[in-house]
Amino acid sequence: MRRKLVVGNWKMNGNLAQNNRLLEKLAHGLQDVSQVDIAVCVPYPYLFQAQQILANTNIAWGAQNVAKHENGAYTGEVSAAMLKEFGVSYVIVGHSERSDAYCESDANIADKFAIAKHHGLIPIFCVGETLQERESGVMEYAIANQLDSILSVSGGALLDQAVIAYEPVWAIGTNRTATPDQARAAHSFIRERIAAQHPGAAETVRIIYGGSVNPRNAAQLLSMPDIDGGLIGRCSLDADDFESICRAAC
Ligand code: G3P
Repeated sequence: MRRKLVVGNWKMNGNLAQNNRLLEKLAHGLQDVSQVDIAVCVPYPYLFQAQQILANTNIAWGAQNVAKHENGAYTGEVSAAMLKEFGVSYVIVGHSERSDAYCESDANIADKFAIAKHHGLIPIFCVGETLQERESGVMEYAIANQLDSILSVSGGALLDQAVIAYEPVWAIGTNRTATPDQARAAHSFIRERIAAQHPGAAETVRIIYGGSVNPRNAAQLLSMPDIDGGLIGRCSLDADDFESICRAAC
């Protein structure tokens, strides 16, 4: 049985004072929640603060990106080894907001996935279709292409214990959430696609949903078969909302 996982993606938000209030409130408010794995992925500058506040709590912390290289002349990049020095557990790779804005190719994302795993991080690999792809009936083709970039280079071993986030691009930040049936269908497609090549990994990989999850829709979404949790954007910045979503996953 896969444990549910709820991850907050703060994106480029926060400041030291606001983070302190949010993290302290989450550490206190969620301390009795043991049935669900919980994490917050914060901007790089706040990793030390997250480590200081969340160490010895049931909330892990993570990053929202990682360099595909080990180290070297890559100005502005942050390596997997550096993330490990700050106790990072999870790292988001291939979020559509990055792949779109910074032209991250499937191959680049696959490299990031692999180096994260190599350093003992848990990659959260984002896949999802655009509204145009869904409305033109090529959703599964689009997701399969994204998945195959990982499946072709990673093999089952790398997928084991990894996380895939299904984030329909048209649901991100839009308050237009996928219906539970739409999300379940996409998650089932993803798991079946993996199972066709790596049956064992298909059972252990957690597939979480992201895209306008909120306290009102979380319980129904997160209770669907093949939905192993959520990747939460806006509602992760509000302690009460994020706590409600974590409890809805129990
Ligand atoms: O990574 C999660 C994010 O893309 C979803 O954002 O604000 O729609 O919950 P939001």
